Amino acid sequence: MMNTRDEDGYELWLRYRVGHEPDRLAQYRAAINQVIVLGTSATADIIRGELSRALPALLDREVRCSTHKPDGQAVVVGTLMALAALGITLAQDQSSRLGEEGFLIRSQRAGHGNLILITGHSEVSLLIGTFHFLRLLQTQQDIRLLDIASSPRIRHRILSHWDNLDGSIERGYAGRSLWNWDELPHTIDPRYYDYARACASIGINGAALNNVNAQVESLSTDYLIKAAALADVLRPYGLRVYLSPLFSAPMQLGGLPTSDPRDPAVAAWWQKKVEEIYRLIPDFGGFQIKANSEGQPGPRDDGANHADGANMLAAALEPHGGLLLWRAFVYDTTIDADRAKCAYQEFVPLDGKFRRNVVVQVKNGPIDFQPREPFHPLLGAMEQTPLALELQITQEYLGQSLHLVYLGGMWKEILDADTYAQGSGSTVARMVDGSLYQHSTSSIVGVANTGSDRNWCGHHFAPANWYAFGRLAWDHTLSAETIADEWIRATWSNDSRVVDQLKAMLLGSWPACIDYMTPLGLHHLMQEGHHYGPDPAFNAAPRQDWNNVYYHRAAATGVGFDRSSRGSNAVSQYHSPLREQFDQLATCPEKFLLWFQHVSWTHRLSSGRTLWEELQQRYTGGVEFVAEMIGVWQSLETDIDPQRYEHVRQRLMQQRDNARLWREVCLNYFGRFIPREKGGAAPDQPASHHSR
Ligand code: GCU
Repeated sequence: MMNTRDEDGYELWLRYRVGHEPDRLAQYRAAINQVIVLGTSATADIIRGELSRALPALLDREVRCSTHKPDGQAVVVGTLMALAALGITLAQDQSSRLGEEGFLIRSQRAGHGNLILITGHSEVSLLIGTFHFLRLLQTQQDIRLLDIASSPRIRHRILSHWDNLDGSIERGYAGRSLWNWDELPHTIDPRYYDYARACASIGINGAALNNVNAQVESLSTDYLIKAAALADVLRPYGLRVYLSPLFSAPMQLGGLPTSDPRDPAVAAWWQKKVEEIYRLIPDFGGFQIKANSEGQPGPRDDGANHADGANMLAAALEPHGGLLLWRAFVYDTTIDADRAKCAYQEFVPLDGKFRRNVVVQVKNGPIDFQPREPFHPLLGAMEQTPLALELQITQEYLGQSLHLVYLGGMWKEILDADTYAQGSGSTVARMVDGSLYQHSTSSIVGVANTGSDRNWCGHHFAPANWYAFGRLAWDHTLSAETIADEWIRATWSNDSRVVDQLKAMLLGSWPACIDYMTPLGLHHLMQEGHHYGPDPAFNAAPRQDWNNVYYHRAAATGVGFDRSSRGSNAVSQYHSPLREQFDQLATCPEKFLLWFQHVSWTHRLSSGRTLWEELQQRYTGGVEFVAEMIGVWQSLETDIDPQRYEHVRQRLMQQRDNARLWREVCLNYFGRFIPREKGGAAPDQPASHHSR
């Protein structure tokens, strides 16, 4: 079918196009004659608006929307209490387990009609449930006998915006910040509503508005008033705002001589500041803070430790129900020469010393959002402290918004990883959702990839990662494939040929990116600063661990960072049997080989190839996959609208060129360490550089 209507991607996965299956359309039309949304709140209005927009489009006919009693086949949306007032009680009551945001979607006979009930305890739960119901239609599910109960596995599901107050975004690749600070609070960009709507549709319930590399002004009264205006927009969609404060704010904003967390005047300043915030934003979520990391101020500046700093801020937030997300992205290499070990060494001794509302926020891996990392050892090492998992949706090290790389598989690999903290089955997911140690709070944070670009994320495929983050945050048991399937159907087409082809592209894209950038456990080979193209030779940084040669350690003897017990012993930070597995060349998983081992070029891998041959094979395989994606995309030209088609086509071509460059630069560089008779590259070919 020729698809000619141009689209610009603004609608994301909320396009609401009629599906391809006539039987389904007939079924939906039969089941949905009327829509009744009970309630008068702003959230109820949003639900009404969404259904009135979606259903006529999805059903290709008018749908009556009312607040009256249902007659005939109707969708009824209302809280359990509101339904009861209408005389509708649920046949089987599962509501006690729903919590505040969980929802039920139920087919039920009532009077002379069949109803589809969307219900829960709060209006926000109805909104999330409504979006779920619409997802069923968007993905062409059978809706005749619905019995769905769904509640979030993780309580706080937050997008972290590394947005600066001047409108720039650190590691943002889709234009400027969505927040127009200069015009707030008076001008409310309609786009804020669309942002909130997209987040609510996948269950995201928090937005940290400003960069973790914070500017102190974000806590000034002027900016708090602006943040409050945003909070007012986001609230009916179920989102709370969070801020990233600067630890030294008592000095810079308050004029105090110190920001030592043990000083009562400092604590009192924060207490007053937090009170001010809650006066303006009564449901303020809390702080997310980067302290004593990459030059940010923190408690260690005054000889205090992370717990002292965190507890002081947490004490100010606690009476208001606020959360303190204290980031563990610290790597003081005077603590350990292996950067991968530093955070564990600083934080594990503090376990048990944090206040109840402190959450230690840990990146998925111990270095920094590389194409692939083993899970961060802290994720298996803190028993008494709730841990938030921090993922990076924006593809800082994975081709940014120019490469098509679907991250669902990466995040599943992390969430499903077994830490063995309490014997087998102690997955990262159970650590993060709080079930492993029965924590009452749980959090997950994704560094956002959104910006002012019309299509939100730069690349038309990048919203797949925003979507996957939200869906996994709600339910980490979903598979990367299921999520990709949903997103493709809602974003592109329900045509099974398109779905299958795009799914293969999405699912293969992350493994391919690893292969053309950093296969077999290599890491941190990106160009300095912007982290875009390859530069394995880089060795000019002021700190050793900012150099790429520090990470790969290529030499005539081999390549890889020896983190075994014979090397830095980072393996000791993992529980048995992982530590023994990672420790030995013979048992270390090949995907993490050069992360944990320094391996001779002639070592044979499971494929029968030597390490050097395997590296060549991997780099080439990665490039070939990108070439295949181009072929697949071209075969779908008539199924995709011309505007989005062409945009993606051009980016895929660039991705292919970049992948080739990665292969050339890396193989040329590593080849220099290999004697020519063993197949090494000719020495000293200058590495070509690509910069953005
Ligand atoms: C990375 C990134 C920085 C960011 C930092 C962080 O190092 O390159 O831009 O500030 O992570 O997570 O704090």
